[in-house]
Amino acid sequence: MSFPNPYLTRGSDGILRLEGVTLPEIAARVGTPTYVYSRQAIIDAYSAYSTAFSGLKHRICYALKANSNLAVIDLLAKQGAGFDIVSMGELMRVIAAGGDPSKVIYSGVAKTEREMEFALKQGIDCFNIESESELYRLQRVAKRTGMKAPITFRVNPDVDPKTHPYISTGLKENKFGVAFTEAERLFVDAAALSNIDVVGIECHIGSQLLELAPYEEALQKLLSLTDRLSAKGVQLDHIDLGGGIGINYQSDQTIDLTAFAGMIAKHMAGRPQTLYLEPGRSIVGNAGLLLTKTEFIKRGEVKNFAIVDAGMNDLLRPSLYQAHHEIVEVQQHAKVPSAQFNVVGPVCESGCFLGKDRALAIEEGDLLAVLSAGAYGFAMASNYNSRARPCEVIVENDRVHVVRERDSLESLFENEHLLR
Ligand code: LLP
Repeated sequence: MSFPNPYLTRGSDGILRLEGVTLPEIAARVGTPTYVYSRQAIIDAYSAYSTAFSGLKHRICYALKANSNLAVIDLLAKQGAGFDIVSMGELMRVIAAGGDPSKVIYSGVAKTEREMEFALKQGIDCFNIESESELYRLQRVAKRTGMKAPITFRVNPDVDPKTHPYISTGLKENKFGVAFTEAERLFVDAAALSNIDVVGIECHIGSQLLELAPYEEALQKLLSLTDRLSAKGVQLDHIDLGGGIGINYQSDQTIDLTAFAGMIAKHMAGRPQTLYLEPGRSIVGNAGLLLTKTEFIKRGEVKNFAIVDAGMNDLLRPSLYQAHHEIVEVQQHAKVPSAQFNVVGPVCESGCFLGKDRALAIEEGDLLAVLSAGAYGFAMASNYNSRARPCEVIVENDRVHVVRERDSLESLFENEHLLR
């Protein structure tokens, strides 16, 4: 079996290793559950974008909501990445990791005054504005601060990305962006404001896209609007097509980046604008896995359960989006027969599962690897059931860097107070 992460291999001893380290070694050192990322896989995924788009003026702004560990940000900053953020907390992470705020673009539907002021003072590249009210709030904040705020409007091109409804964002019924029909007027109004500098246009139509056509439709809409604005004297410096490129979770045929770049280059030819992209999942998703241990095997009347030590609080995607993550044995035993299992976690919810009806040859105590968990894995983890969020490690050749300690149990209630 080949894995979506080329640095994940199974040796002739039947044991899984990531880069040069076996997964049992990692479990022995830091325990489970643990998120394990390959440093080289993250670098390769980023380089795949730089290479595919090398013929176009471009900026790749990694959407750090997918995985905002400081070490991941640092790694990508060193490759030259910009960042797409959605909160002041994310901007503080970029700064703490040594990223450059002038390469940060700020998305999100509910930016507060405090967040706007902080981002302005840090000198970010631009704010992606999602409503008329937000525009006027930013104008007020910028005026008070004596600064000019660079903006794009996130427009909603009303394109169906053909993905899960919870992660589709560019349809009329979604809360994101300004209506396409309103956009022209908003751009013209914004250009006349004293403390606003209109620099570009943005859209993000959804996540885990597996087809090119919705991007092409969205890009054509953005470009025709760009031309209409130009005719009205509003010149844009950049066109941002958002993120959303899907990854291979289950032999999914995803978008080839060279074809993606070729399609964009065809439409952008002869235009002065820089292309911006905001990939998240496709940079880190396949680079990571969740390492978990089988605590118990329970043979029910109709189902077998592999009860593991990672739950929906650690990896929410299967419960929330019915998402499929491949689950594989870390160590293959010749003598254990394969059986069908629901792989379930410790959280007291029937919805707490990592996978259903999986053929696995396992015994109690065995380790499992939940694949393609580098994006929206740890980032969406919670402390539900007063569970410590997992440890995170990055493997670099034969070295294991602990990039986040497992939560201590005391830290879960350190900000709480008794009634006194
Ligand atoms: N830009 C904006 C404005 C976004 O809202 C997002 C993701 C991205 C870029 C990055 O999209 P990506 O390249 O990662 O697909 N938790 C869900 C995914 C939510 C995506 C939210 N926005 C999941 O686990 O599938």
